[in-house]
Amino acid sequence: MGTLRLGVNIDHVATLRQARYATMPDSKNAEPDPVATASLCERAGAGGITAHLRADRRHMQDRDLQRLRANIMTKLNLEMGNTTEIIDFALLLQPDEVCLVPEKRQEITTEGGLDLARHERELAPTIKRLHAAGIRVSLFIDPAPDQVETAVQLEADMVELHTGALSNAFTEKIEQQELERLREAALRASNFGLQVNAGHGINYRNISLIHQIPHLVELNIGHAIVARAMFVGIEAAVSEMLGLMQNYRG
Ligand code: PXP
Repeated sequence: MGTLRLGVNIDHVATLRQARYATMPDSKNAEPDPVATASLCERAGAGGITAHLRADRRHMQDRDLQRLRANIMTKLNLEMGNTTEIIDFALLLQPDEVCLVPEKRQEITTEGGLDLARHERELAPTIKRLHAAGIRVSLFIDPAPDQVETAVQLEADMVELHTGALSNAFTEKIEQQELERLREAALRASNFGLQVNAGHGINYRNISLIHQIPHLVELNIGHAIVARAMFVGIEAAVSEMLGLMQNYRG
């Protein structure tokens, strides 16, 4: 039985602050603070903190990432699109890990995985630069065999398998099909020596399905935990999720 690590994505804490204080970032009233949230997540047992710096800065701000970098005791995973401005920022920030994601301005949250075959040429130099700076690199991909193989060619350290289609499955048949795709992708990635993570749309109910995917090392969960925190507080929300992640058989 393995221990599954929990990375808490705290973007939505910044989303809530920005809803009121986007035009007054220096206000003494600006709240809630993602950095304070990160510390509480760590105290509750999170193994890492994930934040997405988007090109439009709709939630996390540069200063949030700098403060997170200075305060996080576990590890900081920066989610980001493959653009010059954000890469330069990442190289200065020095997160422990970067997860490269596709980014469209119109989407509310990251929608699909990276299409590695299509973007291999742009991704290769970015991965090399991040590696040269000592940053481990994860690629957020749909659970498809060709995506896993391209991640290996690109010399990624990790893949994060997109669990959105599983989470949103409306019928049991689609759910089973998605589970099978995730299981096969996890097995393939693990056989190639990649660390296998998963994320997107995981919540307190569908976490039971995640237990059926082999070889997972880390889950990145944001929305469900931040939403649950409204009722029970962030520490309890993290502990409850960790409780449901226990006894993972790998
Ligand atoms: N992993 C990646 C790569 C993501 O883009 C997101 C959403 O920002 C998550 C995990 C977390 O998804 P959710 O908020 O649905 O738990």
